[in-house]
Amino acid sequence: MLPNWPLAAQTEEHALLMQSIVDPFCASQLAPFAKEFDATGNFPQEAVTVAGSLGLMGMMVDPTSGGAGLDTVAYCLALEAIASHCASTAVILSVNNSLVCGPLEHFGSPWQKETFLTPLAAGKKLGCFALSEPGAGSDPAHLRLRATKKADGSYVLNGTKNWITNGKEADIAIVFATLDPALKHKGIAAFIVPTKTQGFTVSKLEDKLGITASSTAQLFFDDVGIPSTHLLGTEGEGLKIALHTLDGGRIGIASQALGIALAAFEASKRFVLEREQFGAPLAKLQAIQFFIADMAVRLQSARLLTFAAAELKDAGKPYSKQAAMAKLAASEAAMWITTKAIQVHGGYGYTKDYPVERHFRDAKITEIYEGTSEIQRLVIAANELIP
Ligand code: CAA
Repeated sequence: MLPNWPLAAQTEEHALLMQSIVDPFCASQLAPFAKEFDATGNFPQEAVTVAGSLGLMGMMVDPTSGGAGLDTVAYCLALEAIASHCASTAVILSVNNSLVCGPLEHFGSPWQKETFLTPLAAGKKLGCFALSEPGAGSDPAHLRLRATKKADGSYVLNGTKNWITNGKEADIAIVFATLDPALKHKGIAAFIVPTKTQGFTVSKLEDKLGITASSTAQLFFDDVGIPSTHLLGTEGEGLKIALHTLDGGRIGIASQALGIALAAFEASKRFVLEREQFGAPLAKLQAIQFFIADMAVRLQSARLLTFAAAELKDAGKPYSKQAAMAKLAASEAAMWITTKAIQVHGGYGYTKDYPVERHFRDAKITEIYEGTSEIQRLVIAANELIP
């Protein structure tokens, strides 16, 4: 499901991708089951497996590394459509695509790409991005998970990571650790950690307001031994890898937010055209028309910002500020639109008989993960205020 609002960035290839792959995937794997995924909190394994077989787990990865070789605009279109049906599946895919395949493709050695990226991009393995910690959420420069370098060049990891999407199911984790806290962010390194490594455990699963079918885990590292070949980039480069990766991730979360908002918008339109009060459909009331108009404007404004960021990324130009603007606008639009969607549904909107309460619960996280709205404002202001 996408709005009938053509964007300059959309090409015939994008339309073909949507018609031949994404829409059938949504119709067969998500639309009939999204409500159940939400109610049970069960990981949508079948949908993720099918997504992998369709190239949706490594959409932007080069085909030489097992990916679909699509551009970021295609990724946005696909994620928006997927999120309009199931926000949990959207974030599972977004993390694997943006936060795991992304840094492996950009910073990985040929061996790392062949060994880790290829199965991740093909959907044969699932990844997670382990940056946040109990004491380091918005401020990852002060993370405490400790990497100790041994005489043979290998590393040992000790510590805890929090709020890790896909943490329960992941085969491979991109883990950020400090070699020396005194060096502040220049002491941080990124490691590729197979989750079957001894000492790695999932210590807690969060019970969440929304996106219930995607796991959010606490990970515990107890003397986890990692060979030197698993260092991603160089020692001291870890925070830059994380922040560079999050720039791309934020475009994905903006698209997820757009999809959630779109679903609430479409549900609201259907409802107000059908539901009669005062002898006429709700859609005849000017107050309701204002809600619908404001939803449309916020949704389309956020879409334009999101696709502008995607186009810059595809053009190889700086896009950090635009990604932050897109995520800020799209997540706040999603929260506003889903709130108003419940309002136009009245009492029905507050029940589980209608989908808008799920969209409302799912929307909230988009204002929090991959950088809160306040962090996006800091990134935007820092870019605007460069002397
Ligand atoms: N790309 C690459 N490098 C960057 C960068 C970027 N976008 N932004 C900054 N850097 C570099 C800087 O150049 C600097 O390096 P040098 O000292 O060598 O020049 C270094 O990183 C530190 O920069 P700052 O001093 O500006 O960084 P900071 O510590 O003040 O933090 C921040 C800035 C914007 C607050 C940043 O910390 C941030 O974005 N925080 C939010 C973190 C976040 O989004 N967490 C989400 C967790 S992941 C998640 O949610 C995953 C999930 O499972 C869904």
